[in-house]
Amino acid sequence: MKLLQSKKAVRQQVLKWRKASETIGLVPTMGYFHQGHLSLMDECRRHAHRVMVSIFVNPTQFSPNEDLESYPRDIERDLELAREHGVDAVFLPDDNEMYDPDHCTWVIVDNLTKGLCGRSRPGHFRGVATVVAKLFNLIQPDAAVFGQKDFQQLQVIRRMVADLDFAVKIIGCPIVREADGLAMSSRNAYLSKEERRSAVCLFQALCLASRLVKEDGATSCAQVKAALKERIESFPFTRIDYIFTGDPENLMPLEEVKRPLLVALAVFVGSTRLIDNIII
Ligand code: PAF
Repeated sequence: MKLLQSKKAVRQQVLKWRKASETIGLVPTMGYFHQGHLSLMDECRRHAHRVMVSIFVNPTQFSPNEDLESYPRDIERDLELAREHGVDAVFLPDDNEMYDPDHCTWVIVDNLTKGLCGRSRPGHFRGVATVVAKLFNLIQPDAAVFGQKDFQQLQVIRRMVADLDFAVKIIGCPIVREADGLAMSSRNAYLSKEERRSAVCLFQALCLASRLVKEDGATSCAQVKAALKERIESFPFTRIDYIFTGDPENLMPLEEVKRPLLVALAVFVGSTRLIDNIII
């Protein structure tokens, strides 16, 4: 497995693969791997001859009051896991390699970023879209793989690819869960033992939403949301950021239940903000 730390090294590697007529798959990550990341790498292998994983905790997608400094990192372990999963190259740039000090060009995906996490994390998707566009330009992958846990991110990237004519196939992968249903996330590492017990509230609320719609024939999104709110707030340490019910394609909220229905949640458990979603 190659470890590439500069854009120049990435370009040289990509050129070698292209000369050998090999296709390239990319898994963009911020590291601190869990089973979810590893499933993305395995999926990527099914779509391309070569798999490149980028590990970069992208500063431009964090607001000043967020967890950029404390974001969990363990590069040695990540490299070992990537190697075990047959990754061909890891791109591990530092901030200066990725961003020129005078950087001032941004990719803004409108509409889709107005609600959900876009509302609570202003500027977040501008940072995500910009860094992903930079990675696409640099690596020119044939396919790129993202997790559906960040469902809004996945839709934003799909939109950007369509709007800016990137020649890359975007592949979304199912959420990988712990035994009790908690969606795997690097940020789960922040949870205390007691908070970890409460963190299952997101999955339980999504299961409740599914039952209400599929079995009880709920028709009002407000009623579904009220039931989810009550369920989540029955767990200690929780504070709801948002409960969203809407159209999975355009991410517009819905008043009446219409299927497919996206139910997406962001909940603080202690000071850790967790997200999860389901499409019913
Ligand atoms: O999902 C993530 O880990 C990040 O948002 C991404 C896509 C790697 C961009 O920094």
